[in-house]
Amino acid sequence: MKAVLYGSHYGHTQKYAEAIARALGCEAFPAGKHKEANIEGCDTVVFGGGLYAGGIAGWSKVSPYCAKAQGQRWVLFTCGLADPALEKTQRESREIFERRLPEALRGKLPVFCLRGGMDYAALGLKHRAMMAMLAQYLRRKKERSQQDEQLLETYGQRIEFYDEASIEPVVRAARGEY
Ligand SMILES: Cc1cc2nc3c(=O)[nH]c(=O)nc-3n(C[C@H](O)[C@H](O)[C@H](O)COP(=O)(O)O)c2cc1C
Repeated sequence: MKAVLYGSHYGHTQKYAEAIARALGCEAFPAGKHKEANIEGCDTVVFGGGLYAGGIAGWSKVSPYCAKAQGQRWVLFTCGLADPALEKTQRESREIFERRLPEALRGKLPVFCLRGGMDYAALGLKHRAMMAMLAQYLRRKKERSQQDEQLLETYGQRIEFYDEASIEPVVRAARGEY
């Protein structure tokens, strides 16, 4: 039995999780519904979380199950705005999970990086304020990276990078085909 769990504020991670679950023939559950997902009865668990300023949505609810999992296959993915084609994005996504995993699991679980999107008009107050602060900081920054420039160019707009085909490596890993 397999299950897909996700932490998502604005739906991109949820959409990926549901597509992965469809491909695996199982169900996707929000992180808070881990009991319904019957994680302990699963041979494979996929977890995906939206990236929020160095945090992963939903992970704190699911991580205790990952930490005590024995003989289970866990596959992790992040969903953010940063470009997964960049090595830096891949490395940072891995590190975000690694920092939160017990030592015995570090470097052992596959971590994938999917690209989401953002609609500034739909952001809640806290997230809007965080993005405003980030933009202000970046405008003052002397040497801006390509990513910094992209964030400033698209600030306030609707950005969409959802790409369903990008789930393939996650699905393959969940099937043990990697
Ligand atoms: C306050 C805030 C912080 C964010 N921080 C990051 C980040 O550190 N790295 C990143 O790649 N994307 C970041 N994003 C973009 C989200 O990860 C992106 O919108 C993703 O699609 C969110 O997933 P969700 O729609 O499932 O909530 C941030 C977005 C907001 C609003």
